[in-house]
Amino acid sequence: MGPVPPAYEADEDGMLLIGGRRADALVAEAGGTPLFVYDLGQVRARIATFRAAFPGVALHYAVKANPYEKLLSAIAKDVDGLDVASGGELALALEAGAEASTISFAGPGKRDADLAAAVSAGATINLESEGEVDRVLAIGGRPKLAVRVNPPFEIRGAGMRMGGGARPFGVDAERVPALVRRILKAGAEWRGFHIFAGSQALGAEALIEAQRATIALAAELAEAAGAPPPLVNLGGGFGIPYSSGERPLDVEAVGLALHDVLSNRPQILQNSEFAVELGRWLVGEAGVYLARILDRKISHGKTFLITDGGMHHQLAASGNFGQVVRRNFPVAIASRFGAPAKEEASVTGCLCTPLDRLADDVMLPSAGEGDLVAVFLAGAYGLSASPQAFLGHPPALEMLVGEGA
Ligand SMILES: Cc1ncc(COP(=O)(O)O)c(C=O)c1O
Repeated sequence: MGPVPPAYEADEDGMLLIGGRRADALVAEAGGTPLFVYDLGQVRARIATFRAAFPGVALHYAVKANPYEKLLSAIAKDVDGLDVASGGELALALEAGAEASTISFAGPGKRDADLAAAVSAGATINLESEGEVDRVLAIGGRPKLAVRVNPPFEIRGAGMRMGGGARPFGVDAERVPALVRRILKAGAEWRGFHIFAGSQALGAEALIEAQRATIALAAELAEAAGAPPPLVNLGGGFGIPYSSGERPLDVEAVGLALHDVLSNRPQILQNSEFAVELGRWLVGEAGVYLARILDRKISHGKTFLITDGGMHHQLAASGNFGQVVRRNFPVAIASRFGAPAKEEASVTGCLCTPLDRLADDVMLPSAGEGDLVAVFLAGAYGLSASPQAFLGHPPALEMLVGEGA
């Protein structure tokens, strides 16, 4: 299975600590399982790592990774902008206290009502098509508009590719200059470019290459449009290791290379601001999903630990959230954290479907009814990315812990 993130340890009883608190005490405080716990201390440490590695580059948080209200309010105070993907996320970002002028709204199918909400709040709309421009301009006012570019490249080796060919996202690069001229002519406030080429990349070289290509493309499009962009959103794509053999991203190397490229950037980008837009790298490792074992059973010699959680809360761990090959997320018995692995077992959820697997054939300390299972890497694309209504089991609880929570 994948690596347990380094920030987790056990107390003297072998109980998993999350943000310095015992997992069983957190469950008691929250009122039961299944429970997602997010450690704000780890998120803040990530933000500090980014600030040190990317001086002068703005940091935006992609709300889609985890929109839990308490976490979002805390993050909104510490980053330079929030990226939202729907009218619902826009409302959450505003409720979390984000300054509307720092919010940007990207997404291929924006409703008229969502566009109107963004215009009236004063958020930036990252335009995805010429048709969307028509609909925004029809609303009136002076909208803040950036153009989302469908770049002619992708991030090499990324888990999710969002550029380099026919895509429903953004406007093909060759049509962007005409669109920018149209925005300027209409008297809207042009905010610049949003260029998102992919997600979940662990190779520093691939990210460096993509950022270089992004900056060159922004300069080329600005020249062709005859207008310097106020902001160039370079996308993100910083990944985290989910499976064995994957290594953490060397963010310092990416930061150094970006600093070099920005120091020698083309004249037309001299006064532009630059931003990086991150989700999972900021919050993914900071979350743990805790579920309780309801039953331990043996079938044809194989041990199953059946929990009260499952894919309806943590779809990604079951391997059904875009993974091509199912690989085990890191899991542990929270009440025996760090104890030697003694037996091979499969951890399942409580749903009546063979898809509901939290870990297949993993070595764990011996565990049974009443023990807590911890599924790591649950801070991003967990609860909000899962089919919560499927089969009618109770919803999961969520809580924020750690300094400042
Ligand atoms: C436009 C955009 N921004 C940000 C993200 C966040 O990606 P990640 O959580 O991998 O950083 C995504 C992911 O799909 C995206 O599509």
